[in-house]
Amino acid sequence: MTKENMAVNRETFDQVILPVYAPAQFVPVKGQGSRVWDQQGKEYVDFSGGIAVTALGHCHPALVETLKAQGETLWHTSNVFTNEPALRLASKLIKATFAERVFFANSGAEANEAAFKLARYYSSVRHSPYKTKIIAFHHAFHGRTLFTVSVGGQPKYSDGFGPKPADIVHVPFNDLDAVKAVIDDHTCAIVLEPIQGEGGIMPATQEFIQGLRELCDQHHALLVMDEVQSGMGRSGKLFAYEHYEVKPDILTTAKALGGGFPVSAMLTTHEIASAMTPGTHGTTYGGNPLACAIAETALDVINTPEVLQGVEQRRQWFVEELEKMNQRFSLFTEIRGKGLLIGAELKDELKPKARDLLHAAADQGVMILTAGNGVIRFAPSLVITEQDIREGMARLTAAAEALFG
Ligand SMILES: Cc1ncc(COP(=O)(O)O)c(C=O)c1O
Repeated sequence: MTKENMAVNRETFDQVILPVYAPAQFVPVKGQGSRVWDQQGKEYVDFSGGIAVTALGHCHPALVETLKAQGETLWHTSNVFTNEPALRLASKLIKATFAERVFFANSGAEANEAAFKLARYYSSVRHSPYKTKIIAFHHAFHGRTLFTVSVGGQPKYSDGFGPKPADIVHVPFNDLDAVKAVIDDHTCAIVLEPIQGEGGIMPATQEFIQGLRELCDQHHALLVMDEVQSGMGRSGKLFAYEHYEVKPDILTTAKALGGGFPVSAMLTTHEIASAMTPGTHGTTYGGNPLACAIAETALDVINTPEVLQGVEQRRQWFVEELEKMNQRFSLFTEIRGKGLLIGAELKDELKPKARDLLHAAADQGVMILTAGNGVIRFAPSLVITEQDIREGMARLTAAAEALFG
């Protein structure tokens, strides 16, 4: 049977895919900019951005051009050989950030796994093998490997999989006193998302991040920032840590780094990186030339004043429309986030309806996300047009009317 005559649809999902997802009832087949079409030809405005991944929209011409050019040049070498796109991308990430060394992987979880292993390894080599405690936060999300679900602050993702990596402590986010109560000289790292994403679009406060930096310095612990969701321009700066003027020791990025092509990176300093030697960590695909070429183009396009400065204006259009919706239907208690990572928290009595709103939105032709407990999340393209925002919000308003009107 050829690809062309093999009919697949949403029902096929239930027959062939591990049931760990509950995807929408429609199957997208094509995307262009911030519009997507499904198998029936119905068109959607995409405010979900593949969960903060397609930061330049679908099939951005510069990314398509790079994909084609690199696809005809060199796809893969493994790490037995280095390659030009990886070396260029690493150099550009270093130039744009606090970092001096880069490790490439393929997903956010893998970049975080590398970050947590590095924090433990560095502390063991430079300080003491007993310096292993990791402090992390309730509602945090860092990925789905056993180490990353364990550092994540949501037991529903980590329970049931057997013994967890030990010496990980969770405290409330944005609560510096709680961190002070548990940090000691056996702490190797504090791990946080500067803007909690999956947990409900919750930005860290300035005092919190600054306080964490000071505590880390006092206890020779590393400050690890997971910018898998908040990075690559999403907050209006290349990385969200720049808003706080506090530098991490280790930073992870994924999602928008490849604009839709799987690639991730862990960034750190020369001093911390120097604890590692050949063989202490690795991955076959990490730093693959095809992935790195695309990420280099994504970085070149995103890390420009045009794109970064456009984020705030687009946020304002979203917030304006959300406030209008709120005046009409009285849905939200708070609209928060930074840049184009926007969370609108539903009133308590409407929280159980978050997924209904998502389905009603799809019926009206707009793709949105949820996060945390009853938060409607928007993570659209950073270059979405005003017209797409207004049209998508009109469709979302129609969905709210259908559900709550
Ligand atoms: C902050 C954060 N860290 C890590 C991850 C995991 O990334 P991936 O799904 O690419 O492994 C996510 C994914 O949602 C995330 O939002």
